[in-house]
Amino acid sequence: MKNEDLKTRDLDVLWHPCTQMKDHETLPLIPIKKAHGIYIEDFEGNQYIDAISSWWVNMFGHTNSYINSKIVEQLNTLEHVILAGFTHEQVVKLSERLVKLTPAGLDKCFYSDNGSSAVEVALKMSYHAHLNDGKKNKNIFVSLTNSYHGETIGALSVGDVELYKDTYEPLLLKTLQTPVPKDMSIESAKESADEFEKLCRERADEISAIIVEPLIQGAGSMHMYNAEYLVLIREICNRYNVHLIADEVMVGFGRTGELFACEKAKITPDFIVLSKGLTGGYLPLSVVLTSDEIYAKFYCDYNEHKAFLHSHSYTGNALACSAANATLDIFENENIIEKNRKTSKYMGEKLKKFLELENVESIRQTGMVCAIDLKGYKSEERIGLKVYQFGLKNGVLLRPLGSVIYFMPPYIITKDECDKMMDVAYDAIKSLL
Ligand SMILES: Cc1ncc(COP(=O)(O)O)c(C=O)c1O
Repeated sequence: MKNEDLKTRDLDVLWHPCTQMKDHETLPLIPIKKAHGIYIEDFEGNQYIDAISSWWVNMFGHTNSYINSKIVEQLNTLEHVILAGFTHEQVVKLSERLVKLTPAGLDKCFYSDNGSSAVEVALKMSYHAHLNDGKKNKNIFVSLTNSYHGETIGALSVGDVELYKDTYEPLLLKTLQTPVPKDMSIESAKESADEFEKLCRERADEISAIIVEPLIQGAGSMHMYNAEYLVLIREICNRYNVHLIADEVMVGFGRTGELFACEKAKITPDFIVLSKGLTGGYLPLSVVLTSDEIYAKFYCDYNEHKAFLHSHSYTGNALACSAANATLDIFENENIIEKNRKTSKYMGEKLKKFLELENVESIRQTGMVCAIDLKGYKSEERIGLKVYQFGLKNGVLLRPLGSVIYFMPPYIITKDECDKMMDVAYDAIKSLL
């Protein structure tokens, strides 16, 4: 099999995500034959460092031997079973572990298949919990400016990235946006929290929940803010009977330097949404955890009609749960959070060098995520695409967000591999001058 064969066959029958397909007239697709560790490899033997963890999902490298073995073991036992009326060992074990690991007070797990569907679950559960409490008017969701929560209609409605949202505006739910803290300072955290409080003062009767990406807005160009904001909005939510939904789809499982970003603020949200790293980047799975208190609002005789009747066919898939349990084993056995702190310190040191370049505006970092803002380019120049192409020619998969170049590698990356990843990005940015 050659790269060329697969490319032609692909373009005959596939429509790729988040892609203007005409671009592929000039921008070749890259068929991948195999992957191992932080490297993906095409059919001609070219290797690329996966600097973005394959859309932010991969934690412990590709074809990780431990996760592989656990999935194979599960495959020979039970691949999948309906989760309504039935259960299985992997999903019970995973749920017990997640309840223990997530902030205290998150006691029940509800599964779905991907980040967007889990966001939908959290939104529906929040609205429905208020409704079961007799609060019929709480049907508006608040989110942060510049936020991203996925692409399904509900998730898109609480997002605020024009590129994805504008076209579908007529189809979307009515939502309100409150300003995200403009930088990582405590002052901006306070300013933004004041704005949210103002909104609650005026409209809390209608507001079901605020949904936030704690600490880092991923698709919103890796915008970062101070944990104090989470502390402040937790308190405001309590006072105004508004739920706090923490969408940790991207930041969960160690990205920010803690297992969960909410730990940085020592808060418990009413709902935490997890996906991506949950299975180590192997299989689609997501989960919403909430409190016993919210769970109790749905618990009654069948004919009271208060049950949460949401479902997905693959809810709690056994193979995905076994991958998730294997991922948690690695966290447990290998002191990953501590290792990540060392790796992120190393990345942070190297990041400073980018400030030497005239076309770099600023740099920022939270844990295992580093970002570089370029300056002086118009969006039509598609500067990110140039960096992407330079990266590929030099063995690194970077996938800039507009003029923001970022690194979000698998946690197993070594110092030498960090050097290569960041040096190639440095040369790419320099080549634009
Ligand atoms: C914070 C956040 N929420 C939700 C999603 C949607 O997840 P999925 O792409 O699995 O639907 C994403 C995806 O990037 C995300 O970053």
